[in-house]
Amino acid sequence: MRDKGNSIEIARAYMDRLVIEGRIVGARHPDCSFELFGKRFATPVMTGALSHLNHLHPDGVAEMAAGAALCGACAQIGMGDIPEMQQAIRRGSGVIKIIKPYKDEKEIFDRLEAAEAAGALAVGMDLEHAVNTEDDQDSLVAGFQMELKSMEQIRSYVRAVKLPFLVKGALSAKDAVKCRDLGVSGLILSHHNGLLRWAVPPVMVLQDIRKAVGHDLKLIVDGGIEDGADTFKALALGADAVSVGRPLMGPLGENGAEGVKDVLNRMTNELKGFMVRTDTADLNHMDPSVIHVI
Ligand SMILES: Cc1cc2nc3c(=O)[nH]c(=O)nc-3n(C[C@H](O)[C@H](O)[C@H](O)COP(=O)(O)O)c2cc1C
Repeated sequence: MRDKGNSIEIARAYMDRLVIEGRIVGARHPDCSFELFGKRFATPVMTGALSHLNHLHPDGVAEMAAGAALCGACAQIGMGDIPEMQQAIRRGSGVIKIIKPYKDEKEIFDRLEAAEAAGALAVGMDLEHAVNTEDDQDSLVAGFQMELKSMEQIRSYVRAVKLPFLVKGALSAKDAVKCRDLGVSGLILSHHNGLLRWAVPPVMVLQDIRKAVGHDLKLIVDGGIEDGADTFKALALGADAVSVGRPLMGPLGENGAEGVKDVLNRMTNELKGFMVRTDTADLNHMDPSVIHVI
């Protein structure tokens, strides 16, 4: 039977309906360097917040962050203990630690403080992982109990550290406005591999969110970004950056950091190809009118 409501498939189908207008007359070679929270990166393509990668590589998460550093990219990292996070921050060159919505608040504050002490670029929380996909029960993730977080709780995380705080899982202008009011610095627009079934494709809500919060929040698109074309479409529609998760896993297993670097470099070069063919000089001159929906 057809898997109705599969958000990964819905997002893929939408992305494939977006086509790009060519603008070659007078075009120049582009600059796709990118600034995030005061640090300049060579590319707006970053790693997704993956976790539990030791079956692929003995130091999977740190190796992924090291691969991002090899090509001047930012790395998000996901669930894991504090030593694993410290190692990844040491080997990366700009790491965003995404913390789970643990029911036990100590797990959260310990990680927030350790991330700051270790020199993370930013921290965040994947709020969408608080509840199960099937019902409204709090979820259990890798043996840890999660819970829905109130506005007051989120505000307390934002205030606990001086680092920028990102919310992952927001997929609406309404959430974006709430996050801005809470002092959040950025959103990772994500349905986290379909945790929300029938999810609106992240790229589809980008322009609404941008209109609602202007440039007060950094916007990172996550989920099903496979190549430079997907990246270009997301950036043209208003994203500051994209993250890529599952496509890194095979290359990480086969070639460690070099494999991760190769994927990020390939996507960045493809992105540059679309930028030059649309006369897009740099990431500050992305123009949504080059994108059409068929
Ligand atoms: C093995 C694996 C582990 C993941 N662990 C986390 C995690 O700990 N925290 C998190 O926020 N997202 C986690 N994710 C979700 C990814 O960050 C990302 O949102 C998702 O895979 C969609 O992106 P993709 O299509 O590029 O893979 C994980 C995904 C995978 C495949």
